[in-house]
Amino acid sequence: MRTLSICAALLSVALCGALNAEEKLSMSDADKKMYAELVDNNPAEMDVAEGEQLFSAAIGTEAYAKMVGVKEKDLPAYIAGFPRYVEAAKRVVTLSQTIQMAMADRSQAVPKLESKEMLKMTTYLKSLANEQKTNIDVKANKAMKEMMALGQDVFEQRRGGRGLSCNSCHSADIVGQRLRMQPLPDLGASVTAAAGTWPAYRMTKSETTLLDKRFQQCMDNALLAKIPLGSKEMVALEVYITNKTKGNAIQVPGVKR
Ligand code: HEC
Repeated sequence: MRTLSICAALLSVALCGALNAEEKLSMSDADKKMYAELVDNNPAEMDVAEGEQLFSAAIGTEAYAKMVGVKEKDLPAYIAGFPRYVEAAKRVVTLSQTIQMAMADRSQAVPKLESKEMLKMTTYLKSLANEQKTNIDVKANKAMKEMMALGQDVFEQRRGGRGLSCNSCHSADIVGQRLRMQPLPDLGASVTAAAGTWPAYRMTKSETTLLDKRFQQCMDNALLAKIPLGSKEMVALEVYITNKTKGNAIQVPGVKR
């Protein structure tokens, strides 16, 4: 019954199929088995290893730490606080954007945010913060406060032909209901722990995916025009969602459906 109500309230037939059988959980037994195998042997670890090679050749942790203005030994805690205001950029940026900055600093060709190189290097760099707790500080300064407010606006803004917002499917009163057999995840719940578990290997896409790219996949599914990676709105959305699970331990790369 609850699934039917969300379909009626939010969506047309195109997105909500036959959702009657309670026994139809989010994953088939075969998928659950595959998921367990991936957790044991996460293909995204390959990206971490390749990312380390790329990052070391292009920048190295010493030069990176210098560019962002922290001691090398403090990098894990620092990395656990993204997106954050970075003096060298004079604005709030994502971890990926600081890699681009460090490469530009060293007069290297800067790969696009969408590129495999950036995906791998970002996954590696974030993994240096494993076991740290996410420590984003949305009140650290005026820039962070503004981005937090903008992020909430973007999250709640209804867009597209169906007039959906992120909040339509991820608000507190709707999470746990099902859409196309998928439970709607609470982005603030520790099981989801969005900020601490991405980059993650996505089973349904057979590839490692960054958090902002995951947002774009939801935008695609819900027929919302895709907000570009690296845009102010996209960084703000990452600030807002990361703050929802502030304090969760980072464990990347994750494995997701
Ligand atoms: C039409 C409903 C719908 C809308 C609108 C929607 N999502 Fe989702 N979202 C889902 C569903 C369903 C899943 C889980 C899918 C799965 O497990 O395969 C999900 C998963 C996610 C996840 C991954 C959670 C995890 O496991 O870590 C993130 C992050 C996310 N959505 C962010 C967003 C953002 C940001 C927006 C707005 C741009 C948005 N979503 C809009 C339905 C929606």
